[in-house]
Amino acid sequence: MEIVNQKQSGELFEAEAHIWNHIFSFINSMSLKCATELAIPDIIHKHGRPITLVELVDAIPGVDRSKADSVYRLMDILVHSNFFKVEKIPSSNTDEEYYSLTPASHLLVEDHPFSMKPYVISQLDPFTIDAMQHFSRWFKSANDLTPFHMANGMSFWEKKQQDPAFSRLFDKSMATQTPMVANVIIRDCRPVFEGLGTLVDVGGGTGTLCKAIANSFPEIQCSVLDLPIVVAGLEGTKNMKYVEGDMFKYVPPADAVLLKWILHDWNDEESVQILKNCKAAITSNGKKGKVILIETVVADRDDHKAVETQLFFDMLLMTVVTGRERKEKDWAKVFSDAGFSDYKIYPVIGLRSVIEVFP
Ligand SMILES: C[S@@+](CC[C@H](N)C(=O)[O-])C[C@H]1O[C@@H](n2cnc3c(N)ncnc32)[C@H](O)[C@@H]1O
Repeated sequence: MEIVNQKQSGELFEAEAHIWNHIFSFINSMSLKCATELAIPDIIHKHGRPITLVELVDAIPGVDRSKADSVYRLMDILVHSNFFKVEKIPSSNTDEEYYSLTPASHLLVEDHPFSMKPYVISQLDPFTIDAMQHFSRWFKSANDLTPFHMANGMSFWEKKQQDPAFSRLFDKSMATQTPMVANVIIRDCRPVFEGLGTLVDVGGGTGTLCKAIANSFPEIQCSVLDLPIVVAGLEGTKNMKYVEGDMFKYVPPADAVLLKWILHDWNDEESVQILKNCKAAITSNGKKGKVILIETVVADRDDHKAVETQLFFDMLLMTVVTGRERKEKDWAKVFSDAGFSDYKIYPVIGLRSVIEVFP
C-alpha cells in the first residue's frame, strides 16, 4: 500500500468528496421532484404559517405517519439546499421545529402566478432522465440520432407529435415558464416593441408571451405560429391570433419575428434555415424589421452557479434535441450565416437575454 503524506491525503479526500458530490447530485433533483409531486410547497403555503413535521405528514395525501422520519430526512436535504427553512418558534414552549417556504419553494406552489411546478415535474420525467443513461453509447454511435431517440425509439418532436398527454405536459410546462419572462419584457423592454405594427411569435406554444405582448401593446397585430398539435382549436384575442404551420416551411410576414427558446432546440444548420425564413418574412413586409430572440448567451457572466446552470441546459439540449446553448461568438456566426447584419444583446431576463437581430 502506498503511504502518502498529509498534504497529499488532504487533496485525495477533497477529490473523493468532489466525486461523491457529483455522483450523488442527482439526489438533489430527485428530492426536489419528490417534494413537488407530494405537493409539500402547496401544503406549507395553504397551512398559512410554519408547519411542524407531524402536521406536514398528516397533510400529505396518502402518506402514513410511519413514514414521518423519512419525510423528516427528505426535508433535511431540501432545507440544506435552501428549498425550505426550519426554525423554532420563540413563543412556543416546545423544542419543536417548524418548516416554512423559501423564495425557491414559493415558486413551486401550484397557484403562484409564476409557478414552476409543472416544469419541475415534466423536466424530470423518465423520458428525459432515461435518455441521459445512453450518453456514452451515443458518443460512440455513428448515426446522428439524439440520446433521447436512442432511449425512446423516436425523436423528441415525434414523441410530442404522437403522444398528446406528453405534448400537453410539455406545452404546459413551457407556458408556466413564460409569465416571469413576459413580465420583464413588457416592463423593461418596451423600446424593443414600440413602433411595430405586426409581430409573429414563431414556435410561440400556447401563446402566453404573445398574449401578454398583445395586451400590453394593443396597436400591434400579433400572431402565434406553432404546429397544429399545439395551437389547433385555440382562440385568439382582438389583436392576437393563432396560425397553424411549420417554421421550416413558412413564416407569415411581420415587422418583427419573435423566437423564444426556439433556436436552442436546433443545430446551427437548422437554426440558419429558421432564421432565413424569418428574414424573408420581415423583408416581404417591406419595412425595416427585426428578429427578437429570447435565448441564453452562455458564460456571459462571472457567476459559477449561473454558468453551470447554462451548461446544464446545453447538456439537456444535447440529450433531448439537436440543439445547443450558444456563446456570443456562436450566435454571431448563426446570425451572419443567415444573412443578418447586426445584433444587440440585453442580458435582462435572469440567465437569458433578449437579442435583437437586424437584417
Ligand atoms: C421549447 S418550446 C418553446 C415554446 C415557447 N416559445 C416558449 O418559450 O414557451 C418550442 C416550441 O416550438 C414549437 N415547434 C417545434 N417545431 C416547430 C415547427 N416546425 N414549426 C413551428 N413550431 C414548432 C413546439 O411546438 C414548441 O411550442
